[in-house]
Formats: sequence, structure tokens, C-alpha cells
Amino acid sequence: MRISVVGLGKAGLPLAAVIADKGFDVLGVDLDKNKVEKINKGINPLEEEPGLKRLISSNAGSHLKATSDPIKAAKSCNVHIIVVPLFIGKNKKPDFSMLKNALESLAKCLKRNDIVILETTVPVGTTENFVKKILEKGSGLKAGRDFYLAYSPERIMTGYSISRYVDFPKLIGGIDEKSTEKAYKVYSSFISTPVKVSNARTAELAKIAEGVYRDVNIALANELFMASEHYNVDFWEMRDAAKHEFCNILEPGNVGGHCIPIYPWFLINELDAPLAKAARELNDGMIHYYMKKIERLNGKKGKKVGIIGLSYREGVKEKAYSRSAALIDLLKKKGYDVYGIDPLYSKEEIKKEFGINHLENFNKMDVIILMNEEFGYKDKLKRIKNKVIDVKNVLIKQ
Ligand SMILES: NC(=O)c1ccc[n+]([C@@H]2O[C@H](COP(=O)([O-])OP(=O)(O)OC[C@H]3O[C@@H](n4cnc5c(N)ncnc54)[C@H](O)[C@@H]3O)[C@@H](O)[C@H]2O)c1
Repeated sequence: MRISVVGLGKAGLPLAAVIADKGFDVLGVDLDKNKVEKINKGINPLEEEPGLKRLISSNAGSHLKATSDPIKAAKSCNVHIIVVPLFIGKNKKPDFSMLKNALESLAKCLKRNDIVILETTVPVGTTENFVKKILEKGSGLKAGRDFYLAYSPERIMTGYSISRYVDFPKLIGGIDEKSTEKAYKVYSSFISTPVKVSNARTAELAKIAEGVYRDVNIALANELFMASEHYNVDFWEMRDAAKHEFCNILEPGNVGGHCIPIYPWFLINELDAPLAKAARELNDGMIHYYMKKIERLNGKKGKKVGIIGLSYREGVKEKAYSRSAALIDLLKKKGYDVYGIDPLYSKEEIKKEFGINHLENFNKMDVIILMNEEFGYKDKLKRIKNKVIDVKNVLIKQ
């Protein structure tokens, strides 16, 4: 078995490294030549991922190699795992271009008995329609007869990507029984809990369902948070009081990153899905609620507002769908003077990526909003807590 992993991003690279560490030869493919070079030198390009550094440094050049030539990888490997991203555009429709590009390169050199597995989160039916069609057309081979095709969703979360390959069941569903069996055998050799499901569609929907589940439950928490403030009730006390076996309210807050804000649209686009849609809108709309709080708390046009936590989530240096970035836009449109700080970004990066100045002096701000669970500024903030909006309850948490 010689495995290629196409797309060495936050999902693909940890997977490639885990497989290599189990003793299999992995050829990772990425169009980013700089990343490929780093990996081949044994340098970890994803510093925030615990455990990855060791896996890369001990396997690079032996079991783990990388290339920016997809044709070379397609020719030399017989198992091809694809983990390139799928984004949605402004119209919320998925943009398949990166996936199409990866599949077309692979199709050119696909061989008899090869196994192709898609891990990218996709709309239901993508594997047995879109993927199969491109591979069959480009290779002249027939899926299920000449080569095997399955879907197995990556379920990683940045910061926990290595441990999740150990702790989380790995769902596997093929376009037919033989494909399921073949893909199951592949994952069984390096994953401790592979789980077969009836078909690719089941695995695809299970992955989307996970995202929708979290989105809807966070929306519920956000709604109850707003209700608590309306009734002058401490949300966190109420949440604890309401807790029992059948009631576990999640924490309210921001939903960002390129997973949860995207996947519900795969359902909403196709079958309306009113609950998923309402949750999406409610979570995205929380910045307007924060805006009203800022306005109430001494913030008027021209006033200085500081934002703590700029990335979409604490601990992950990623701006995709960051609600802080959306709040910055809103504040700027309303004429506020906006400053920001995030332990993951330098002063220069804050200016370049978020278009605001670095938040130096907390005392000079009229309002400070703590968007992520950042504990590093707690003592300073406690001294000025009357002008702090604490979205994640950081000042109270231990
Ligand atoms: N990052 C996360 O925490 C996370 C969590 C769950 C799911 N996912 C999912 O994982 C999948 C991949 O996302 P990611 O976070 O790894 O993306 P990423 O942006 O970190 O990396 C994607 C990589 O793919 C490469 N690439 C793009 N097109 C390519 C092609 N044709 N051939 C080879 N390489 C190509 C890019 O250069 C990039 O290095 C998506 O489905 C995403 O939704 C990510």
C-alpha cells in the first residue's frame, strides 16, 4: 500500500503524518511549494497542532514525503486520499473548483484496483455523483469495477487533530459494498476505530449533521443568553441550574472557522432546512446584539472600542469566518475607532489582516469586548470591568 494524501492543510497534514508514523509510505501532495519544501525538510508548517512536530520530524524523508506534482503522486500510489477544502461563495453555494482540480489530476493517472477516498466535507451525494463522474471520465475506468471509491469524513479540530485520529470513530462508506470494504481495510491498518456505514451518502450526511448539531445548539445557547439578559438573570447560573441528564445547554458565543458556518448551507441550499437556517442566521447575527451592547456601554460614533480575540477561535490562527472580523467591519461602518489584540497575531499582522491598530492601552478604550476565551488579560480587565463586554464569561471562569 502506497498512499497519497492530496491537500496538506490543517486536516490533510496531520492525517499524512499519522499514517506515515504507522510505518506506511505516504506521499503528500500540495500545490503550495513552500509548504512541500518545509515538510520534506522535516519542518512542521502547522505549529499550533500538538504532536505534529514530532511526527513530521521523525518521518520526513523516510515514510513521509511531499510533492507539488499531483501526477507523480497519482502514478506512484495506489491509495489516494483527498482532503482539499470546499468553500462557499457569497451566494452560499459550494465552490467545487479546488476539488475538481485535484480530481482531474488524479483521474489522468488512475490505475486498475486503485482506491480513492474523499475526506473533504461535501454536500450529500458528491462522492457518488460529482467525484465518480470526474474520475471515470478522466481515466476511462469504471468505479466499483476497475477502481474503488469511498467517502470518509475528516473529523479533526485544529489543536486536537492527532488525538482525534485515536479518540474518534472514523466513518467509512463506499459507493458500493466492495468499495466500503476496500476503504475499511485501508483505514483499519492505521486507525484504531474505523466504522463502516451503509454507503457514502450516510457518511457525508453524518459529517454535515455534526456541524448542524453544534450550530443549532450554540444558537439555542445564544438565544437563552439574550433571554437571560432580558430578564436580568445570570445566564451562567441559570445554565448550571437547568442542567441534568436531558438538558445540557452549550456555551453561547461566536461560531466561526471554515467548518460549522459552512456545512449547514449544504442542507439549506438543497432542502430549505428551516431550523438549520435559523440557527445560522442567529449565530451570525450575534454581532448586532454585541453592537447594541457596545452602544449602550458608552460607545458612540468616534469612540474607541478594543476587541480581544481576533481569530475565529482562541488557539487557532485563522481568520476564516471570524466574527471579530465581522464585528470590526460593523464598528468601522458605524464610525468607531477600533483596536484589537490577539496573542496569536503580531502588531503588524493585526494591521495587515484585520485593518486595525494594535490594542496597547486598555485604559484608553471606551469599551472593550472580549470575543474569545482569552484568559491572559483577565487581571487587567477585572480592574476596568465596567466597560468590558465578556462574551465568553472569561472574567468569572477559573
Ligand atoms: N481546519 C479544521 O479545523 C478543519 C476541521 C474540520 C474539517 N476541516 C475540513 O478539512 C478539509 C480541508 O480543510 P483544511 O482545513 O485542511 O484546509 P487548509 O486551507 O488548511 O489546507 C488546504 C490545503 O490544500 C491545498 N490544495 C488546494 N487545492 C489543491 C490541489 N488541487 N491539490 C493539492 N493541494 C491542494 C492548499 O494548498 C492547502 O495547503 C475541508 O473539508 C475542511 O472543511 C477542517
